[in-house]
Amino acid sequence: MGAMLLSPAAAGTGLTGRAAEAVAELGDRAVLCDLYDEAGAPVYHDIAGTTPHEVRELLSTLRRIPGPVLDLAAGSGRLTFPFLALGREVTALELSGHMIGLLRERLAATPASLRGRCTPVQADMSDFSLGRRFGAVVLGTTSISLLPPEARPGLYRCVREHLAPGGRFLLTTVEVDAADDGSDESEILAPGEITGRSYRMIEQWTSGNSSRTVTVIPADPPAEGPVHVATTTIGVMPAPLLVAELEAAGFAIRSTTPIPGGGRHHDVLLEAEAL
Ligand SMILES: C[S@@+](CC[C@H](N)C(=O)[O-])C[C@H]1O[C@@H](n2cnc3c(N)ncnc32)[C@H](O)[C@@H]1O
Repeated sequence: MGAMLLSPAAAGTGLTGRAAEAVAELGDRAVLCDLYDEAGAPVYHDIAGTTPHEVRELLSTLRRIPGPVLDLAAGSGRLTFPFLALGREVTALELSGHMIGLLRERLAATPASLRGRCTPVQADMSDFSLGRRFGAVVLGTTSISLLPPEARPGLYRCVREHLAPGGRFLLTTVEVDAADDGSDESEILAPGEITGRSYRMIEQWTSGNSSRTVTVIPADPPAEGPVHVATTTIGVMPAPLLVAELEAAGFAIRSTTPIPGGGRHHDVLLEAEAL
């Protein structure tokens, strides 16, 4: 999705609540973009490192699973680089040319000892064929929720075809609190690790709904000129639904680990093995 100019009233943006208010305040300076497009990818990359719990959990699980790692929906490499630092050979698969471009830039600035063990691949995680198998296939950052239901069987089939015998599919998703059916709007201040800027990260989610919207706006926009408002709408994939789909696709769940942190709704790490 390309960047587009917004009317001062933020009409037609689909944004509500605080995100719509922030856009209305910016008026015609607001430029809406997708969080993974040319304008949004650097913003995502700037704030992506701010959630350390999942990385820690994935690393401690990977330590007991030998072999090369396939990092699906790798983005700019938030998980790829820690996996490389573990000493693994890592294939980083990513659909967006902008995101994989950032990953390649980061690799170019990395010591050859790490860079030499990484293979970036631009492909769709629901339809890929790499002609080799991996000890672990990782789909982190709750990115399973980016795939529509009709694309998920393709993902499960591709993962099966790329797992070595005894290999593991590690994926994170949202643990939805069934008792919680209220409207949810939360906001955190996210530090930009590269630029040093701060961003307002607004998440809007009604628990009964099947999606949530994340909007990222500079906390201290410059006094004049355009201001990028990066937004993405992500499907919500509750853990029990994901477990049922994995089992129907021929996987057995070997472990389930809650991931601490991350606000009101926490994430969960599933470890699955193809039967
Ligand atoms: C939430 S980001 C996670 C990136 C990275 N794993 C991280 O932790 O920062 C999700 C990524 O999935 C990518 N993506 C979306 N749909 C995809 C697909 N069908 N195949 C591969 N990547 C996809 C997006 O371009 C984006 O970079």
